[in-house]
Amino acid sequence: MPGLKVAVLGAAGGIGQPLSLLVKMNPAVTDLALFDVVPVVRGVAADCSHVDSPATTAGYTKDDEGLKQALTGADLVIIPAGVPRKPGMTRDDLFNINAGIVRDLAQGIADFCPKAFVLIISNPVNSTVPIAAEVLKAAGVFDPKRLFGVTTLDVVRSSTMSAQAIGKPNSAPEYTIPVVGGHSGVTILPLLSQAKPALPESLFSDTEKLKALIHRIQFGGDEVVEAKAGAGSATLSMAYAGYKFAEQLIGAAFQGKKGVVAPSYVYVAEAKDIQQEIGQDLAFFSVPVELGPNGVEKLHPLGQLSSYEKELLQACLGELPGSITKGVNFIQQPK
Ligand code: NAD
Ligand code: LMR
Repeated sequence: MPGLKVAVLGAAGGIGQPLSLLVKMNPAVTDLALFDVVPVVRGVAADCSHVDSPATTAGYTKDDEGLKQALTGADLVIIPAGVPRKPGMTRDDLFNINAGIVRDLAQGIADFCPKAFVLIISNPVNSTVPIAAEVLKAAGVFDPKRLFGVTTLDVVRSSTMSAQAIGKPNSAPEYTIPVVGGHSGVTILPLLSQAKPALPESLFSDTEKLKALIHRIQFGGDEVVEAKAGAGSATLSMAYAGYKFAEQLIGAAFQGKKGVVAPSYVYVAEAKDIQQEIGQDLAFFSVPVELGPNGVEKLHPLGQLSSYEKELLQACLGELPGSITKGVNFIQQPK
């Protein structure tokens, strides 16, 4: 296999540091470039560089054309740059700061590694992914198969919280549960009726319990934000989830692995079958994505929804289109 360069942007942060370590541990990665606006990123890179895995590791900051050096030759770029929430805030409250950060980093990708796969973690994901797409489109390098909003934490929470809800807390790894929609509150739509293996019938017949579980998955981020009491949001579980998705993409895109399917918030504007299932012409939606050498190989349909899941889809559609438009307008109609 030829070399594989991964760049992490925002690598000195709460997510960025453990995520960088996890990427460093992947034996397929040959170059790891860590970029952040704070100079301590050089120390983070020095620290990671002692791990005895193949990847050579370097840290870059804003000076000395750091972004250019970090991105040049990158095959995969993972972006956890930006501010996290504090209690009482929504993810959309982060828009004013994080929109500009993602815009500028996406411009760097357009300039220095336009063919890289791009994984966006920075919130609000429902808007930051459209922002990145608009920047890449304006530069003439947008490839909808290569841009992913990372929603894996919702998938991870669905398994963990469902296992807890059915009284089998140690069985989380056994469950695969698709999560569709977006990554914020009611836009997060866990399809528990499609869990593999199936969740027990007793969960679905106890409406209060079912609603409580879905609410917990949708607002799982709040649990961490409140417990951290002003010191940020999920970092360790997010680094795990972000790496889980990156590892799946590396396997499918660079190591020839077949049949890799993972939900992600991707461009669906041209997927008429998905639009029909959703009932709206949305540009972005999280669906189970089959990954391959070009990134998105195939968008899997939502499939059969229960009547309660159909109600939840309507709630998702009440919020998601506005978040997408807000991101698009940030680039198309700057103030
Ligand atoms: P953090 O504040 O600990 O770290 C963010 C890092 O980004 C900092 O090191 C900061 O210096 C850096 N940064 C800021 N501007 C930058 C720029 N222009 N270029 C490069 N780096 C820059 O925050 P965190 O806890 O790591 O969270 C980061 C983001 O991830 C937040 O927006 C948060 O809401 C989001 N998040 C998303 C998910 C998800 O499921 N998608 C989960 C958790 C957190
Ligand atoms: C999460 O789901 O944990 C993240 O999106 C961070 C947050 O703000 O809740």
